[in-house]
Amino acid sequence: MNVKEQLGQYAARVETYILEQVAAMQKAAAGMDTDMLYDAMRHSLSAGGKRIRPALIYAFCEVCGGSLQAADSAACAMEMTHTSSLIFDDLPAMDDDDLRRGKPSCHKAFGEATAILAGDALICAPFMILAQDAGLTAEQKVALISVLAEREGAAGMVGGQLMDMQFETMEKVTAEELETMCLGKTGALMEASCKMGCLCAGGTPEQIQAAGEYGKSVGLAFQIIDDILDVTSTAEMLGKPIGSDAEEEKKTFVTILGIEEARKRAQALSEHAHAQLDMFENTEFLHALTDELLVRVK
Ligand code: IPE
Ligand code: IPE
Ligand code: MG
Ligand code: MG
Ligand code: MG
Repeated sequence: MNVKEQLGQYAARVETYILEQVAAMQKAAAGMDTDMLYDAMRHSLSAGGKRIRPALIYAFCEVCGGSLQAADSAACAMEMTHTSSLIFDDLPAMDDDDLRRGKPSCHKAFGEATAILAGDALICAPFMILAQDAGLTAEQKVALISVLAEREGAAGMVGGQLMDMQFETMEKVTAEELETMCLGKTGALMEASCKMGCLCAGGTPEQIQAAGEYGKSVGLAFQIIDDILDVTSTAEMLGKPIGSDAEEEKKTFVTILGIEEARKRAQALSEHAHAQLDMFENTEFLHALTDELLVRVK
């Protein structure tokens, strides 16, 4: 199976699990008259996302000897967390973008208040889904919830998002400062995904450490390519607006390093990521995915 086919299989698997979980949540809340909340969640969650983070979770679970089933709740939890960050990222107070995953952004389709609440619900659901997975041990649940909450929060994705907003009005931002910000806003959830995959399989501390290092490098490279695509691609291809970064006066790898240097940095990070995979067996897919993320066009 090639890398795209494997990604497709992981994506289909997590998609099914996500929709089942949302349906169960909606059923449990029957009588509350809150269908719009679930419609808004499904709107943002449903097809159109590349599901890279779930793929990292499944793949790291497999290279640590775990089953796909063991990773389902973590993969679903991570995609919900990531989707909440996208809903908030698109709000007028943040990047003010009207298109996401090829559809109107959540606040465009449902209004700002419902979008904020759908994002809130998608922050809470992952912790419930992990806590209620009967296939995980209590120790695994605590470790998974701890990694997710820590990397999602103020010291991770949320902190990175604040730095991103602050940089808009700063005259000078160094490449080091930009990398710190991106390790937060994008690297943190990638790092968490790789570690969580290992945790689902009962991986060793050394494997969890190497997976985290892999996730940080791949996450930073992922944001470099995202910044490049914002100036070189099209909205049709990306399913989100292009030129958004310039419009918001973002500091990006393109504005600070230029496209050519940015690509070189992504290449170096990718090589560092490949090296971390020595700790695992049967890593063909992860090596191929690492390369694919560097040449991706969407
Ligand atoms: C977009 O993430 C936000 C960034 C961290 C750059 P993705 O490019 O993974 O978005 P989806 O999930 O495929 O929509
Ligand atoms: C956002 O980075 C990272 C998140 C935490 C959502 P961007 O603002 O560059 O992501 P896009 O380009 O809107 O997907
Ligand atoms: Mg943003
Ligand atoms: Mg954005
Ligand atoms: Mg972007």
